[in-house]
Amino acid sequence: KRIAIFASGSGSNAQKIIEYFHKNQEIEVSIVLSNRPDAYVLQRADNFEIPTHVFDREEFYQTNEVVKLLQSLNIDLVVLAGFLWLVPSNLIEAYPNKIINIHPAILPKFGGKGMYGMKVHKAVLEAGEAESGITIHFVNEHFDEGEIIHQSKYKIDNGDDIDMIAYKGQQLEHHYYPKVIENLLKKMSK
Ligand code: GRF
Repeated sequence: KRIAIFASGSGSNAQKIIEYFHKNQEIEVSIVLSNRPDAYVLQRADNFEIPTHVFDREEFYQTNEVVKLLQSLNIDLVVLAGFLWLVPSNLIEAYPNKIINIHPAILPKFGGKGMYGMKVHKAVLEAGEAESGITIHFVNEHFDEGEIIHQSKYKIDNGDDIDMIAYKGQQLEHHYYPKVIENLLKKMSK
């Protein structure tokens, strides 16, 4: 089975996924795609000799090039890991229930357009929540709205600041995202 990872930034989740499947005979990360030529995730992919592809707005939203590229590689699952652009309908239609995303909060609260990265943690903290967590979900035409596949939670302790809850969330993301991907791909091959 073959995975494509889309990421816009640092790519610490991408790194964990790449490492997790590095020696796997059945599952591989075949390509890493980004909308940002300077995204650190591209460096991480290079370090593992995984091919990369950078696209701009025009290519992503006005052409079918990205879909064609994924199809030419026989991609089975598209994994968004810190990818900040809305996925266009041609891509969703080409990969029905085969595109997943990770969000650093318990959806449906604290999701939607503009709710990403530290903004999510800031909102959670300001709302005085006693806990937060992560959500892994299928991707549809709207930000953070597809069917939920996995959630796990952590406690927010007195005195936790944004960095602390970001850290707690990241630990969960790194632990669960590779495993959820593996389970989905195993189900697909049955
Ligand atoms: C993660 O917190 C993820 O939930 C969100 O973007 C962040 C990506 O971090 N969608 P990284 O680039 O994987 O380090």
